[in-house]
Amino acid sequence: MKMKKFAVAAIIAMMGMTLMACGGKKSAESKAEGAASVKTVNAGKLIMATNAEFPPYEYHEGNEIKGIDVEICQAVAEKLGLELQIEDVAFDAIIPEVASGKADLAAAGMTVTEDRKQNMDFSDTYATSIQLILVQENSSIAGKEDLTGKKIGVQLGTTSDLFSTEDFGEDAVVRYSKSMEAVQALSQGKIDAVIVDSQTAKEFVNEVKGIKALDSSYSDEAYAIGVKKGNTELLNAVNAALAELKSEGKLDEIVTKYTKAE
Ligand code: ARG
Repeated sequence: MKMKKFAVAAIIAMMGMTLMACGGKKSAESKAEGAASVKTVNAGKLIMATNAEFPPYEYHEGNEIKGIDVEICQAVAEKLGLELQIEDVAFDAIIPEVASGKADLAAAGMTVTEDRKQNMDFSDTYATSIQLILVQENSSIAGKEDLTGKKIGVQLGTTSDLFSTEDFGEDAVVRYSKSMEAVQALSQGKIDAVIVDSQTAKEFVNEVKGIKALDSSYSDEAYAIGVKKGNTELLNAVNAALAELKSEGKLDEIVTKYTKAE
């Protein structure tokens, strides 16, 4: 009788331990899935290389870097169980940072181009845009065709730089490290036009007196996140996270939050 009771108690205790062991193992495993399934440059971190001179996608506000790309990557990092770390570098340093393995991702309103694809793999497109031509309010430039023989300001290494150099030649293009510097040069009459992505262009027009954006589009842009060439593991994880954010409506929510003033 005593023995029986003891045996039952022992069995119950063992069952409990087995259950606990299962439970413990299960949660340890699923945690590990999030954290360990994607290898990053620094374990536990997701390092995003960007150039925070591109409102509303990435910009400085006090000591912080904010914007659409920041929030998207924050949400991606959360889904992967990683902590987002931002590296703010010159725009033309972003791809080298990723290619050399210093950063995990490039997220900078970066347009997918054939050239860039030689050095980085791109995620699915998460936003589209166009580029606009900014001129002084009283300018006679009314469209792309009037830019021949003019001085065009661009941010170094951007598609504005690449396309305008192709279209109008090396001598026509004046390169700045930030688009805002080009806009200031425009407002001072040092150059005739600036080419920049439309949402950033609109922010600059609101901020700087005496300039306007022309209606016609200069180019089409499709933004994607870049990862080191061949890192399909991270690329797939980013694409899966982006797809989830899209279906959850989170992607739209982030974009709307930063563009609703327009
Ligand atoms: N979409 C353009 C490009 O890919 C401009 C991007 C500029 N982004 C930035 N963070 N400054 O070249």
